[in-house]
Amino acid sequence: MKVSIIGGGGLVGSSAAFALQCGGIVREIALVDLNQDMAAGQALDLLHGGPSTADQVISSGSYEHIPDSDVVCITAGLRRKPDESRLDLINRNTDLFVGILDDVIKAGLKQNAIVFVVSNPVDILTYVAADRVGLPHAQVIGLGTQLDTIRFQSLIAQRMGVPPTQTSALILGEHGDSMVPIWSGATVGGFPLDKLPGWTPNLATELFTRTKGSGAEVISKKGGAGFAVGIAIRDVIHAIALDQRRVLPISSVQNGCYDIRDVALSVPTVVGRSGVCDRLPVDLWPKELQGLRRSGTVLRQTIKTVLDRIGKRS
Ligand code: 2OP
Repeated sequence: MKVSIIGGGGLVGSSAAFALQCGGIVREIALVDLNQDMAAGQALDLLHGGPSTADQVISSGSYEHIPDSDVVCITAGLRRKPDESRLDLINRNTDLFVGILDDVIKAGLKQNAIVFVVSNPVDILTYVAADRVGLPHAQVIGLGTQLDTIRFQSLIAQRMGVPPTQTSALILGEHGDSMVPIWSGATVGGFPLDKLPGWTPNLATELFTRTKGSGAEVISKKGGAGFAVGIAIRDVIHAIALDQRRVLPISSVQNGCYDIRDVALSVPTVVGRSGVCDRLPVDLWPKELQGLRRSGTVLRQTIKTVLDRIGKRS
């Protein structure tokens, strides 16, 4: 399977490429970037590690890589300032993103290609991509709250002194300020999290607050996320490459799950080679469901503003 990463010269895109190389599943990784020297440098650096990782084709260039790509991952975008919300970023990034979409459409996409949006604000841009690229909505997905979910699990595990790989706790809704912690399904080693010795409601609040602020915290410390967002991107691309049908909290345009429509946000989504294979509206606590629907309302208001400015295609 061939994956093209638009923005592959940058921190997020090159981190995703490195995660895919270490994962060894995809056959070809093409780094596409406006800064072609940077993309070529990242590709060369990856190539040098090939003999000790996997037999893959590592390439770089421009939109000539799009027509034969199975996954087109768009990570390009301006980064948030530490005190800037993702939605504030929207106007700065929408125009850049629409330009990228136009170039992708001009280059041509395989009928069964998956367009995978990472650029922020990811839910808004996933909706814009679904509206414009001319593929079925199931084939246009966004990273959504998969990154927030693994951050959430990592912080819970660290604080409780339990293995992160045995810690399961979802974040749903917006990849942004209105994201929703799903405590109702949180477990460690298969046991309910709130049955763990030392677990308290205060701890729950503290850990979710830190999760929600993790993007800004990483930006303030090192300028922007790389390793974890690369891993989160790899999780989704491997589910596509292997047709795993994994249930992942990724963003896509909703058509009725939890009675939410006409907005892109993250719900439990069955991910396989065809993108969104299904959605699982697992039972949530009333306040979780309320939070999820509020996320939809917040995002729909912004989508309307954006579409009033750039126009709606479909
Ligand atoms: C983050 O939360 C890049 O939006 C991503 O760090």
